[in-house]
Amino acid sequence: MRMYDIIEKKRDGLALSDEEIRFFVDGYTDGSIPDYQASALCMAIFFRGMNDREISVLTDAMAHSGDMIDLSRFGTLSADKHSTGGVGDKTSLIVMPIVAALGAKVAKMTGRGLGHTGGTVDKLESIPGYQIALDSERFLTQVEDIGISLVGQSGNLTPADKKLYALRDVTATVNSIPLITSSIMSKKLAAGAHNIVLDVKVGSGAFMKTPADGRALAEKMVSIGKLCGRNMTAVLTNMDVPLGHNIGNALEVREAVAVLKGESRGDLREVCIALASNLIRMVFDLTEEEARRRVIDALGSGAAFSKLKEWISAQGGDTRCLDDPSLFPATAFAYEIQSPVNGYIRKMDAERIGITSVMLGAGRETKDAPIDYSAGIVLCKKVGERVSAGETLATLYTNRESALAEAAEHYLTALTFGETPPEPQPLIYEIVR
Ligand code: URA
Repeated sequence: MRMYDIIEKKRDGLALSDEEIRFFVDGYTDGSIPDYQASALCMAIFFRGMNDREISVLTDAMAHSGDMIDLSRFGTLSADKHSTGGVGDKTSLIVMPIVAALGAKVAKMTGRGLGHTGGTVDKLESIPGYQIALDSERFLTQVEDIGISLVGQSGNLTPADKKLYALRDVTATVNSIPLITSSIMSKKLAAGAHNIVLDVKVGSGAFMKTPADGRALAEKMVSIGKLCGRNMTAVLTNMDVPLGHNIGNALEVREAVAVLKGESRGDLREVCIALASNLIRMVFDLTEEEARRRVIDALGSGAAFSKLKEWISAQGGDTRCLDDPSLFPATAFAYEIQSPVNGYIRKMDAERIGITSVMLGAGRETKDAPIDYSAGIVLCKKVGERVSAGETLATLYTNRESALAEAAEHYLTALTFGETPPEPQPLIYEIVR
């Protein structure tokens, strides 16, 4: 078999055979197929697409390219969640302790931030002392004992995805439904959970810009997971606007803590309730109403916040920061951005806002760059709110004084003002089961 023929076949719009797909995944993982041929195939897939059989085989081959985690000791109680990536998305920090407090078993491998989107590993590392790497026995024992552990992706989980994702990131081939489906679902299948909820983000800050594209991606991922015997639900959520008010690692932990303590309401809490209730609905076979009731109880009773503390403490994190978030390290500089006009905020470009937070140090500009856990943005005004000239729109936090002026200018280019309020947008577009 020759890689050249496989590229040519897909370039001409033909379906690849199972053997051809496995030849590509195996060869790219072991290094016998070079990056330039893999990127040509990704571009051909980007333009020509793949049928359902091809996507399932690609996903299965990627899932089996490395270790497969065995969570069978937890029976059907294991639960996982994955977000397709957004700005201000700290939902894992809220949803996972809620579902663990309700009796699900959360053994979750999680990733770092990518581009303008944040990652749970970076958020957890902003908690002083938190150990993100545990050996697999300790990881599973912690889940047995307290119902929850979140660690960084193990070295040999889906190596094919690790290489392909890095390649797609620099060859403009991220935004393809077959490639996103196989990337996400290979990781979820290898990570072993029986019940999986997917948060498919839709809008300016997401890879899927329209609800129709989001639905197409959600349907593919749900059907592949079901074919592999997993319980699956996808929730399509709005990412036209950043989620919640805080962007940046420690700032996002603080906001997650506020939701778990019942101090913060609004869009973030609502999305978390939807994700958590869809997850426990599958784990315990509940009606939607009962699942939602249990989730709201876990928030209201403080059980979910107690579970967060138990989990962070088990992994070496300093829980004093959770009781008193002012103990998180502060930045040297804070800068308030004032509204240039009177009027309504009609639009916020979430991707631009995500990039502003990277400029402040909250994300990586290159793959291995260090991150400033305390940097980020607190949004004071969001879409639909009326503002007066001179009123504070957002506060930027950074240790890079030289980045402030450019970041403030960039933030303002993300906003569109008008004299009338915008049409309200749904927070949750749809649920795909
Ligand atoms: N998240 C992933 O893990 N993979 C993709 O391809 C896109 C988002």
